[in-house]
Amino acid sequence: MRTLLFVLGTRPEAIKLSPLILHFRKSPSDFNVHLCLTGQHREIVHQALSVFGLTPDTDLDLMLPGQTLFQSTSRILSALEPVFSKVKPDLTFVQGDTTTTLCGALASFYSNVPVAHVEAGLRTWDLAKPFPEEANRQMVGRITALHLAATPWAAENLAREGVAEDTISITGNTGIDALLQTAATLPHFDWPFLNPNRKMILVTGHRRENFGSGMDRFCSALRRLASRSDVEIVYPVHPNPNVRGPVEAALGNLPNVHLIAPQDYLPFVDLMRRSYIILTDSGGVQEEGPSFGKPILVSREVTERPEAVDAGTVRLVGTDEDKIVHEATILLDNPEEYARRSRIHNPYGDGQACPRIEKVVRVYFESL
Ligand code: UD1
Ligand code: UDP
Repeated sequence: MRTLLFVLGTRPEAIKLSPLILHFRKSPSDFNVHLCLTGQHREIVHQALSVFGLTPDTDLDLMLPGQTLFQSTSRILSALEPVFSKVKPDLTFVQGDTTTTLCGALASFYSNVPVAHVEAGLRTWDLAKPFPEEANRQMVGRITALHLAATPWAAENLAREGVAEDTISITGNTGIDALLQTAATLPHFDWPFLNPNRKMILVTGHRRENFGSGMDRFCSALRRLASRSDVEIVYPVHPNPNVRGPVEAALGNLPNVHLIAPQDYLPFVDLMRRSYIILTDSGGVQEEGPSFGKPILVSREVTERPEAVDAGTVRLVGTDEDKIVHEATILLDNPEEYARRSRIHNPYGDGQACPRIEKVVRVYFESL
């Protein structure tokens, strides 16, 4: 029996790895699955895991309020050493491009255990955008044995970097497996504060490169949009103090702006489904929105997920106040343009990433 170690630490890793963990646990005689939570995130990662009924086998519980990259990186890497000694995995799974992803892959490499990288090959080729995620995923790509790319574009990026083609697989994104599994039976949640006569703009934002002046311009744009009587804004605020502080200061107590706590995954999916427009800098939300046919404005200058931009449903608006207001106004006031950009499609996955990854893993073990 092979032991698979899943190292995860943040909300998006929990949402995107949970369906895969559950999938491998369906074959208990072939795979022993160990879930190690670094605790890079605390409340919001447990919030995400609980939706899938998962509890960690190891919880390093490392989050510090307002942690710096130095603190999270050094603490997570050191704390993983005894986990590898104890679990003795045959393969380590990491996902995406967070500090936990980098530390999980590095700890595995130091332990001579091969790494499977889920959502491999995303690139902007700009180390500052997103920071530090672009560097994290490039570094993980150098020490990965199984590159599990969601899309053909991501796979080509890896091949162009010289990654051996027989180590790259195109699997679809496991986040879309999670979304399609949950959306099929998603209940309707009660949102007493929502006014059905208004168009709801769902907002999220937490990227480090937008902290400071970028966040101020973003909030000013939201204030201007909220002054319209036909609009309301719902903003589940990320718990990072660099986000929460400025957002609450700029947008608290505005009648058409609802600043709410980070939502459990299911109600958040319901909010996406009910929204008119999504304005976000989140990677995961950019991938999920197209499944509901929602036009998405991305408050970033570059994206590592160009497929939905090419398909026309996602548009990059950066943190330029006028541009955000202008682009949102087009969608709010021009029904033809809105219809053109609200097509249901999903270039990131078809809900079958987990069985494809299982197949790749079985072939890999058979080849050893
Ligand atoms: C991290 C990832 C980012 C990912 C995001 C998803 C890195 C470098 N960044 O950014 O790629 O898109 O998660 O949300 O890995 N906090 C809480 N409770 C929580 C979670 C966070 O209070 O449950 C607060 C803490 O004060 C913490 C801070 O948020 O110190 C920042 O958390 P951190 O994981 O360092 O960065 P994120 O901005 O969340
Ligand atoms: N999400 C959630 N609750 C929220 C906001 C987002 O469950 O209040 C989900 C969202 O559906 C997506 C994931 O969290 O699956 C995205 O996480 P985040 O934006 O924190 O990180 P990123 O994807 O940018 O790395």
